[in-house]
Amino acid sequence: MAGLEGIRACVFDAYGTLFDVNSPVQKLATEIGDKANDLARLWRQKQLEYTWLRSLMGVHADFWHVTGDALDFSLEALKIDDVGLRDELMTLYLKLDAYPEVAEALQAVRAKSKRTAILSNGSPSMLDSAVRAAGLEKSFDMVLSVEDVGIYKPSRRVYRHAMQKLQIQDAPSICFVSANSWDAQAAAQFGFQVVRLARSGGQDDRIPGKAAARIETLAELAALLA
Ligand code: LAC
Repeated sequence: MAGLEGIRACVFDAYGTLFDVNSPVQKLATEIGDKANDLARLWRQKQLEYTWLRSLMGVHADFWHVTGDALDFSLEALKIDDVGLRDELMTLYLKLDAYPEVAEALQAVRAKSKRTAILSNGSPSMLDSAVRAAGLEKSFDMVLSVEDVGIYKPSRRVYRHAMQKLQIQDAPSICFVSANSWDAQAAAQFGFQVVRLARSGGQDDRIPGKAAARIETLAELAALLA
């Protein structure tokens, strides 16, 4: 695969890319029973939908709020009536498992003298908690949240925020890495060089924007950076 030229910083999506959003439901799968897979899928889908809807409506609420609303909708839709379970799932969301290759992959990127940052929908406290739980405090130069912008990805304002914070004027100097197709494609459309992480199937969405490269785990990332 062709490498990416001229990269100065790697910017990572958080949820689904570094952290496994399915881990809370998986940890309580026995308690949840045969609706566990449906719950994990619906919770994530609604969480994302609510970010997009709120962005279009111009009514922002932070990702913790949206994540709770999405869980409440999903529990009701699946007729799971268990307040204790709701609280347990939300608590686990603050300590999501990082994918196993993440720490080493970040180290390899930094060994190539590239800066590293997170750019996520997550609120600062959610991101701080997830980063600390995964022992990744020293792996990032910056952890950036949409809360500083007041709108969710894929607004171009969010991607521009990363450029401003990193003090990088030319978008292609940023390698943006995401396992979320819509995020990867929107970031590519914005102008970043994008590496699409195809952890679980790599189908593209029918929206503009094309990733420059595609990998299956983050362990493949550093080798792409010139
Ligand atoms: C994030 C979501 C999109 O971390 O996964 O921004």
